[in-house]
Amino acid sequence: MGFDFRGKTAVVTGGANGIGLAMARALAAGGAAVWIWDLARERPAEAGAAFGARGVVVDVAERASIDAALAASGAPDVLMVNAGTVTFASLSETTAEDWNRTLAVNLSGAFHTIQAAAGLMKPRRAGAIVITASTNSFDGESDLIAYNATKAGLLGILRTAANELGPYGIRVNAVCPGLIRTRLTRAHFAQSAVIKDYFRHIPLGRGGEPEEVANAAAFLASDLASFITGAALVVDGGQLAAKFGVWNDERAEFVADRWRLK
Ligand SMILES: NC(=O)c1ccc[n+]([C@@H]2O[C@H](COP(=O)([O-])OP(=O)(O)OC[C@H]3O[C@@H](n4cnc5c(N)ncnc54)[C@H](O)[C@@H]3O)[C@@H](O)[C@H]2O)c1
Repeated sequence: MGFDFRGKTAVVTGGANGIGLAMARALAAGGAAVWIWDLARERPAEAGAAFGARGVVVDVAERASIDAALAASGAPDVLMVNAGTVTFASLSETTAEDWNRTLAVNLSGAFHTIQAAAGLMKPRRAGAIVITASTNSFDGESDLIAYNATKAGLLGILRTAANELGPYGIRVNAVCPGLIRTRLTRAHFAQSAVIKDYFRHIPLGRGGEPEEVANAAAFLASDLASFITGAALVVDGGQLAAKFGVWNDERAEFVADRWRLK
């Protein structure tokens, strides 16, 4: 599927890997001048060089580095607020350090990125922002208390920003991915027995690929979504729609990481 981003400048936070990298590739394929923001250890310039994107070292938990990166790119037409981190720990075992870092990156990082970029975008009276939230914005998956709190909080940022930026012609939407194959979820995908059970609850019978989230985000950022703002688009193979699992061993088999009817 192709989208037209010719003549547009796009910024993707956390763009050196996984879903962000797929977003950056989709925007570049549509003709955008793409800026990838990521941590130094992820070598954003090298990640982007393969497809003509520029990379900048940014820690979204540091407002000064956000401001410096925006000074280099100028006002973005498209902003993908995607950088995220996760720590697995129960409510009892989550340390203050884990809690603070997760909030600093996923929630405060999104706030500062959007606030700083919106200040530059408003005078242009146009633009699109897409936030990477999660199905965990809606549920309470165990051992992810800090992550879940940030992803739920992003929906508050989404709606408030959509409300306040709409008059300036800036649309703000979110994608809410389910389980997507990236390094964040490598441990899940490495255990066939775990994903076999997990995917019983997904009507499409499988996990998602980064490009499938990037396509949804590119649509929301494109002019094809010109009357959509404040929306949270679930990209989860139907997982949130299904209260109980649909795949069982009588009628289906699990082959090559996906369920299919016998
Ligand atoms: N993979 C999934 O199943 C899944 C599901 C729902 C939501 N998400 C969300 O998608 C987004 C992308 O995750 P992914 O799965 O592609 O993981 P990933 O680890 O491959 O990518 C995340 C990127 O964010 C970057 N990042 C982390 N902290 C940063 C910081 N302080 N400043 C700048 N960049 C930073 C990382 O370096 C990395 O490149 C995250 O917000 C994640 O919460 C992922």
